[in-house]
Amino acid sequence: MKRLLSREEIASGINRLAAEVQRDCGGKPLTVIGVLTGSIVLVADLLRRLEGPIEVGMVWASSYRGAATRPGRLDLRLDLLPDLTGRDVLLVDDIFDTGRTLEALVASLHEHGAASVRTLVLLRKPDRVEVDMNPDYVGFDIPDAFVVGYGLDHDGAWRNLPEICILDPTDADGSAGRPSAAQATDSIKSLPISPANAQPR
Ligand code: IMP
Ligand code: MG
Repeated sequence: MKRLLSREEIASGINRLAAEVQRDCGGKPLTVIGVLTGSIVLVADLLRRLEGPIEVGMVWASSYRGAATRPGRLDLRLDLLPDLTGRDVLLVDDIFDTGRTLEALVASLHEHGAASVRTLVLLRKPDRVEVDMNPDYVGFDIPDAFVVGYGLDHDGAWRNLPEICILDPTDADGSAGRPSAAQATDSIKSLPISPANAQPR
């Protein structure tokens, strides 16, 4: 495991994202929709930095199968959505990889009656993007590596890691020898990373 983003770097990235959202949407009613399961930690931290009348809802999306680190078929579940008719929506996901999840979800949220849909991600892998859209708010651009922690998982594990780390291929070979989050935090090494130039639309 190598540390990509420390707790402090993540926190300042979220402060920046929240300030950008507040600047664009501040004070007006907003529905924040998180993408389960990877966005839960981000949504919780982001929400507490936003002011004004905010509703929260969740959708579920998955494109990774088990231990694979490349996407497979995209499954979406929208049955947990609140009423979006006429609402301004902020769709929040952990990471923009190929972009196919957010592209599909933006279309679905419009079909559910949203007046507008903005998108926010903590991480983006610019080298992997396969779609025409870009998120409106991006925390950090990162290299094409499989990352875990801060809500991001590999085969269900590592979501509870408080930092974002690059998964070593030797850690990705099944659950049997899986170290605890605390052990992983002890073994991580620092790796420099620059904040993205977020692209507000
Ligand atoms: P996309 O549809 O290819 O943009 O994939 C987005 C989803 O894939 C994210 O919501 C994550 O759940 C998952 N994902 C993509 N890259 C990673 C990664 O490096 N670590 C963990 N999950 C990832
Ligand atoms: Mg996800």
